[in-house]
Amino acid sequence: MKPRIRKVAVIGTGTLGTQIAVHSAYHGYDVSAYDADPRSMGKVLRMIQVRIANSNRKPAIPLREIERQAKKIRISSTIEAAVRGADLVIEAIPENLKLKRRIFKVIDLSAPEKAILATNSSSIPVSRIESATHRPEKCLNLHFYSLDLGRNMADVMGGKKTTRQVLETGKEWVRSIGCVPLTVKKELLGFCFNRVWRAIKRETLHMWARGYVDFKDIDRGWMIWTGMSQGPFGIMDAVGLDVVYGIEMVYYNQSKDRRDYPPAALKKMIEQKHLGVKTGKGFYTYPNPEFKSPDFLKA
Ligand SMILES: NC(=O)c1ccc[n+]([C@@H]2O[C@H](COP(=O)([O-])OP(=O)(O)OC[C@H]3O[C@@H](n4cnc5c(N)ncnc54)[C@H](O)[C@@H]3O)[C@@H](O)[C@H]2O)c1
Repeated sequence: MKPRIRKVAVIGTGTLGTQIAVHSAYHGYDVSAYDADPRSMGKVLRMIQVRIANSNRKPAIPLREIERQAKKIRISSTIEAAVRGADLVIEAIPENLKLKRRIFKVIDLSAPEKAILATNSSSIPVSRIESATHRPEKCLNLHFYSLDLGRNMADVMGGKKTTRQVLETGKEWVRSIGCVPLTVKKELLGFCFNRVWRAIKRETLHMWARGYVDFKDIDRGWMIWTGMSQGPFGIMDAVGLDVVYGIEMVYYNQSKDRRDYPPAALKKMIEQKHLGVKTGKGFYTYPNPEFKSPDFLKA
C-alpha cells in the first residue's frame, strides 16, 4: 500500500525550506519545522517580498497567502519535536554533505518508522546520504525551485534502494502541493532541469570571472532572448551566492576537473558577505537592482 502523507516536517527554514513549508500548509498539510536559527523564517518572508518585487513572474501562491500560511506552521525547538508523527520529512539545510548526513541521522532516529525522508539538496544525490539512516529504501531527492517566483516544479530522484512506492508517493505529494514532478530515471548528479541550469551557471560565472564580459551584458542578453525579468546573475543573487558556491563544489568534488572549480572571485564575494538578495548585495544591490531599471535594456 502506498504511504499517505498527512504531516510534513521541514528541517531548515531558509530560502527554500520556508517556501516548501508554506506551500505544504497552503495545500492542507499539517506542517512543523525546525531551524537552527529561530529567526530564519521571518527573515526569509521579508526577503521573498524583495524577490517577488524584482521579478515579472507571479508567485505560485499570492504573497498575502504566503504570509498567512507561514503562521500556521508549528515551529519546534528541536529536530526531534519537529519530526514527531511526520509522514514526510524534508531537509533543506545548507549544501554540505557532512552536515546533511549528520542531520539525516538525527531525523532517522526520531521520525516514525513509516516516514519518508527527502532532501531538497540542489546537487547531492540521496545515495550519498541514505546510508546515514536505517531506511535507505524510504529516502529520495525532492529538489524544489523558487516557488515564490512561480517555478512550481521539483526534480524527483531515488537513491540506490528507494522503492518504487516511495518514488510514486513523492511525485504524488509534489503534485498535491501544486508542483510538476520532473523524474530522473537513473541517478544523475544535478538531477533533471537543475543540471541544465547548472551548465548555464558554470559557463556564465567563468566568462565573468576571467574578465571576458561584464556580467550585466550576459544578463541583458538572457533577458532579451528569454523575455525573463532577470538574467543568470540576477537569478544567482536570488538563490544566494553561498548556495551557488556550495553546489559548484559538489560538482567539482565529483569530477576533480579544474574547469568545474568555482571562480575565486565568487569566493571573495562570499567572504565579503555579498551573498545576493539575502544580504542586500551580490552582483547587484537590493532592494532596487539595476536590472529593474527601464534603462537596463535600452538600445
Ligand atoms: N536557494 C535556492 O534557490 C535553492 C533551490 C533549490 C534547492 N536548494 C537547496 O536547499 C538547501 C537549502 O538552501 P537554501 O537556499 O534554503 O539555504 P539558506 O541558507 O537560505 O537556508 C538554510 C537554513 O538552514 C539552517 N540551518 C543551518 N544548519 C542547520 C542545522 N544544523 N539544523 C537546522 N537548520 C540549519 C540555516 O539557519 C538556514 O535557515 C540546500 O541544499 C540548497 O542546495 C536551494
